[in-house]
Formats: sequence, C-alpha cells, structure tokens
Amino acid sequence: MDIILLGPPGAGKGTQASLLKDEHGMVQLSTGDMLRAAVNAGTEVGLKAKALMEAGELVPDEVVSGIIGDKLDELGSEQGVIFDGYPRTAAQAESLDEILAERGRVLSYVIELSVDEDALVERITGRFTCAKCGEGYHDIFKQPAVAGVCDVCGSTEFKRRPDDNEETVRTRMQEYRAKTAPILPIYEARGIVRKVDGMGSMADVHEAIEAVLSL
Ligand code: AP5
Repeated sequence: MDIILLGPPGAGKGTQASLLKDEHGMVQLSTGDMLRAAVNAGTEVGLKAKALMEAGELVPDEVVSGIIGDKLDELGSEQGVIFDGYPRTAAQAESLDEILAERGRVLSYVIELSVDEDALVERITGRFTCAKCGEGYHDIFKQPAVAGVCDVCGSTEFKRRPDDNEETVRTRMQEYRAKTAPILPIYEARGIVRKVDGMGSMADVHEAIEAVLSL
C-alpha cells in the first residue's frame, strides 16, 4: 500500500510516518529528510536546496521528483511507501502519477492531517532530534525519559533545524496554503482522501490513521 501524508508544517507527518513505518514495515520517503541529508553532504542537490530551505521556500519540482523516482527504484514492489512531504505542488502530483505508473504502483490513500495553524508554531519551534539516531522530540510534547539522553540510542547530543524559527515557519505555511493545499482536489476527485484530526495526541492521531488503513 502506498500512501501520502499531507498537511502543513508541523502537522505531524514525520511523527506519524515514523509510527507507521515501525508497525507495518513500510518505507518512509521524506523529501525534507532527503534534502537535509543532501545539504549536509554538500551534494549538487544540497547546494541548490540549502538557501531555499533556510528561507522556507520550496525546492524546484524537478529536483524533488528526481529524488523520489531514484528512491523508489531502490525498493521492492512489495514494500509499501509513505510519502511524507511529497507531493507539494500540482506539478509534483502529476510527476508522482507518472513515477508510480511507470513502476506499476498504485496510490491507495491521501491522509490529510487537519490542524489548527495557531498550534503549529509551538510544535515546530519546540522540536529537536537526536544528533546520532534522528529520533524526534519536543520541548513540551515529547521529552526524553531522562533529560538530555536519547531514549533510543543513549546519545547526549541533540540538534534543531535551521528552518524551525517563527519567521521561516510563517513562510512555510504560506507556501503550503498557496501551492500544496490546492492539490487536494486532485485526490478528492479520485475518492482517496481521508481527513484525520491532527490535533489529538500523537497516539490518538496514529489510531485514527490505522482505522483508515484497515478499512
Ligand atoms: P519538511 O522537512 O517536509 O518540513 P515540513 O513540511 O515543513 O514539515 P515538518 O517536518 O516541519 O513537520 P511535520 O508535519 O513532519 O511534523 P512533525 O511530525 O515533525 O520540508 C522542509 C523544507 O524542505 C521545505 O520548507 C522545503 O524547502 C523543502 N522541501 C521538502 N519537501 C519538498 C517538496 N516536496 N518540494 C519542494 N520543497 C520541499 O511534528 C512537529 C513537532 O510537533 C515535533 O516536535 C513533534 O514531536 C510534535 N508533534 C507531532 N505530532 C504531535 C501531536 N499530535 N501533538 C503534539 N505534538 C506533536
């Protein structure tokens, strides 16, 4: 089963993709994570993406669609994929259709995480991750069990994203409203959009997504 998680910055796409991945053995394809890895590695893609990401603007369509096509080629056809942060424009949605059709894959659902935008700035500015294993945390909503120590790998080093400041978050939200939200009707016309309330606890949101996927 291939699914898209769609929602504004901080809606919980990464959090929910990670839970689904662990429980169902699905593969999480996060264009944001892949672009950050490219920026850190200083690749050609990373050099193109760095300034745009730091400003909260979208990276060119052909760059992200190219990455997604390459990643899918590394997977077996039996492995379900969670698209996290892709597609984000009408052109990307069109490319995804082609990419999936060429590989004989079918998109089952688009899970729309509906959230209250006022809560998102708090979610994003409080986010941090383990510098070693990447486990995600939050200053208020998900603290490590032992302060300063990663629950998963025991590392004591953590990091924050350079685009997780209030000003950039506002730009990212504007980009979402202007370019990403308008692609929902494409999928609504196909009858595959399932709206999930993203304002509950992480566990409640996960349960609601599980209910959609088990139908
Ligand atoms: P990307 O990395 O995709 O960022 P984003 O879409 O802005 O989404 P976030 O990662 O900020 O949020 P999320 O929904 O995953 O929330 P999370 O689960 O972490 O993209 C970054 C940049 O890369 C873009 O601005 C763009 O420049 C570029 N880019 C990426 N893809 C692109 C594309 N396809 N095309 C062009 N450019 C692209 O949760 C956030 C926090 O809230 C966490 O701390 C979490 O612990 C907490 N939280 C989560 N759920 C809950 C809950 N239910 N209750 C309380 N707290 C919660």
